[in-house]
Amino acid sequence: MQAWVEHEILHIGAEAEVASGLFLGRKSVQKRRIERNWRHPDLDRRLCKSRMSAEARILIRLHKIGIQVPKIRQVNLEGRTMILSKLPGHPVIDLLRGNCETPDGDEWQKEMLFEIGIIVRKLHRNGVSHGDLSTNNIFWCPSNGASLLDFGLSRITEDIEHYGIDLHILHEILGASHPSIENAMQILLSGYQSIDIEGKKLIMTGGGVLPTCKQIIKRYEDIITRVRYADN
Ligand SMILES: Nc1ncnc2c1ncn2[C@@H]1O[C@H](COP(=O)(O)OP(=O)(O)OP(=O)(O)O)[C@@H](O)[C@H]1O
Ligand SMILES: [Mg+2]
Repeated sequence: MQAWVEHEILHIGAEAEVASGLFLGRKSVQKRRIERNWRHPDLDRRLCKSRMSAEARILIRLHKIGIQVPKIRQVNLEGRTMILSKLPGHPVIDLLRGNCETPDGDEWQKEMLFEIGIIVRKLHRNGVSHGDLSTNNIFWCPSNGASLLDFGLSRITEDIEHYGIDLHILHEILGASHPSIENAMQILLSGYQSIDIEGKKLIMTGGGVLPTCKQIIKRYEDIITRVRYADN
């Protein structure tokens, strides 16, 4: 039996190509990192390997904690490929633009934004910033809720700025790409704030203290002001 049976190409981007298929009979995707010719081949190989291993390490860690992310089925650093479980649902960008089937009415949008807030907060509570929280990199479906993918730029950090930037990216994208949903960011932030116990410190395994939910939201608001001044 062939281990990987390909069905269709889902995505061709600047960094990666993603195809759906079956891996040992299970619904999966294969993410193939594209060679960047403008980089020196040795540097490209090194960068690719380190990004892939960082992404795989974080996915394993998050899956263990119970955060909904793709499961790793196979990593081939030399071949630049990773096989992951296929996430349920659709990318949030397609759901919000009506490019795929959505539930009736529009209550689901609020539910989805609230659940995205919760999963992003869970990520931050575990010391991980995503680094590229666009609506392409968040999946949602009514029965399974929100999942996150694409951890190529993520990092384990105590630095509040990275967490503030994660929220700021969401703010920018919800405003720019999906402006029709009123109060989208407020709904998302109410989900973000819904799972914390006031005053409880979050300690990382190395002993460092993570910024609190309140501190991160404050930093996010500061970043909005900073960007506004820089634009004027
Ligand atoms: N596990 C998965 N399940 C379902 N779809 C996936 C999965 N992984 C990736 N995809 C689809 O492929 C797209 C691209 O994957 P990903 O975000 O990991 O690549 P990327 O690093 O953004 O690539 P590029 O930077 O070249 O655009 C996702 O937005 C999603 O639509
Ligand atoms: Mg992506």
